[in-house]
Amino acid sequence: ALPEKVKIVEVGPRDGLQNEKTIVPTETKIHLIDMLSASGLTVIEATSFVSPKWVPQMADQVEVMKGICKRPGVSYPVLTPNLKGFQSAVKAGASEVAIFGAASELFSKKNINCSVDESLQRFEEVMKAAKEAGVPVRGYVSCVLGCPYEGNVAPEKVAHVAKRLYSMGCYEISLGDTIGVGTPGSMTEMLQAVSREVPLNALAVHCHDTYGQALANILVALQMGISVVDSSVAGLGGCPYAQGASGNVATEDVVYMLHGLGIQTGVDLSRLMDAGAFICRTLNRKTNSKVSQATCKL
Ligand code: HMG
Ligand code: MG
Repeated sequence: ALPEKVKIVEVGPRDGLQNEKTIVPTETKIHLIDMLSASGLTVIEATSFVSPKWVPQMADQVEVMKGICKRPGVSYPVLTPNLKGFQSAVKAGASEVAIFGAASELFSKKNINCSVDESLQRFEEVMKAAKEAGVPVRGYVSCVLGCPYEGNVAPEKVAHVAKRLYSMGCYEISLGDTIGVGTPGSMTEMLQAVSREVPLNALAVHCHDTYGQALANILVALQMGISVVDSSVAGLGGCPYAQGASGNVATEDVVYMLHGLGIQTGVDLSRLMDAGAFICRTLNRKTNSKVSQATCKL
């Protein structure tokens, strides 16, 4: 059975923009986030407290956090790879953070410059500080359906990392198909393995749409009992450490599918599309949302 309600985690301002080659003005980022919160989204990943040498696009994280209009009832989590990032995030006013690990050793090395085990040790430190500060922590696992450097990734490996993050106190584990290679078959197999270790109500799916499989993969995840979906307005994005990976599934398309299934999201699709149109106009980019493309022609 499908869930009655789905929580959408909008990752556009972070996952969507982190891969942009030219620096997007801080004002644009702030305006985008404010338009997204006005559309009814309740979780908007705002930025990353990562090294500016690694991801220059996120170097204005403090200004973004200070500039956005924080709506009551909306959370604005940020990525924090280590204690330094966590401390800066809290100082800048973040009240929720996310740690991000991987099910693949080579991806972990390329993305956060350490092994999977080392990353889990760092995350323990972040978790300890977060517990003391009363800050909820979300956990990501990348490469759950394939790795750009290692190829296939065993579902057991994903389950192992997901379980570690959940056991250390992450309230939700987002399973990332970083390069969008999964299909409903591999998604089902992976979710079966992970759900033996982490309860389904603590899982989210995070699908990039590189191979055009994201909506199908999300649908099987919903059918299996998952009710949290990550997506990016206008389908922006990609990961700088996963070359060739395209953006997340477009939030507009996810909302359209969910509403069509009679599932509530709390999102006003037309205001969401306005936010997508704004960022595409500003980046001088065509939207990756099929729903927005279709409506443009009406
Ligand atoms: P490192 O070089 O090993 O770090 O990078 P280090 O501890 O040796 O420090 C090196 C320098 O970075 C030092 O500065 C530190 O102060 C600084 P220096 O002395 O050279 O001037 N530094 C920092 N600065 C700001 N904020 C920090 C921070 N930490 C250290 N938090 C590190 C390790 C993790 C920092 C680096 O690899 C990094 O920033 N990686 C982030 C990569 C990233 O953001 N990737 C994209 C997000 S993940 C993703 O997109 C996948 C996801 O969407 C899910 C999916 O799709 O699968 C989540
Ligand atoms: Mg991602």
